[in-house]
Amino acid sequence: MAKSKSAANEDEISRDRLAELLNEDLSREYQAIIAYVVYSQVLSGAQYMDIAAQLEIHAKQELDHALILSRQIDYLGKMPAVTPKPVRTSKNPEDMLRYDLDNENETIRNYRDRIRQCETLGEYAMAEQIRQILMQEQDHQIDLATALGIEVPDVSGGPKGRTLRKRR
Ligand SMILES: [Fe+2]
Ligand SMILES: [Fe+2]
Repeated sequence: MAKSKSAANEDEISRDRLAELLNEDLSREYQAIIAYVVYSQVLSGAQYMDIAAQLEIHAKQELDHALILSRQIDYLGKMPAVTPKPVRTSKNPEDMLRYDLDNENETIRNYRDRIRQCETLGEYAMAEQIRQILMQEQDHQIDLATALGIEVPDVSGGPKGRTLRKRR
């Protein structure tokens, strides 16, 4: 069966390489925890009240994701990473939401690859755990795009883009 190749190294995935990539994911989760902890508290203004409350929920979900990833990395016999990816800050609320949205897009792209890689290695339970995480990341993406009043970015890179289902 012909399979599209989204990452150059997808064909040569190994358990060691998967653990390395999961550690990159873990660093992105730490980044997300920090960003959501800070942004949820500093976003001010009546129009941002709803999204600030949602960001607080995101912060806790990102911590759950970090715990799940750490468990999987340990299962693969590697030490979980301890360093977050850099967190950008701004005094402008819209900038903060855009930074979050950029990070979520990047995270979603990576988890879609990761699910395929887990399945290539026959790690179906791990693929399922990441699928659960991915569902929450897509909700985060929708929350942020909605708060910014923009369409949900299409990060599929495939022939069929994701369509926006508006939540009102
Ligand atoms: Fe996450
Ligand atoms: Fe997220």
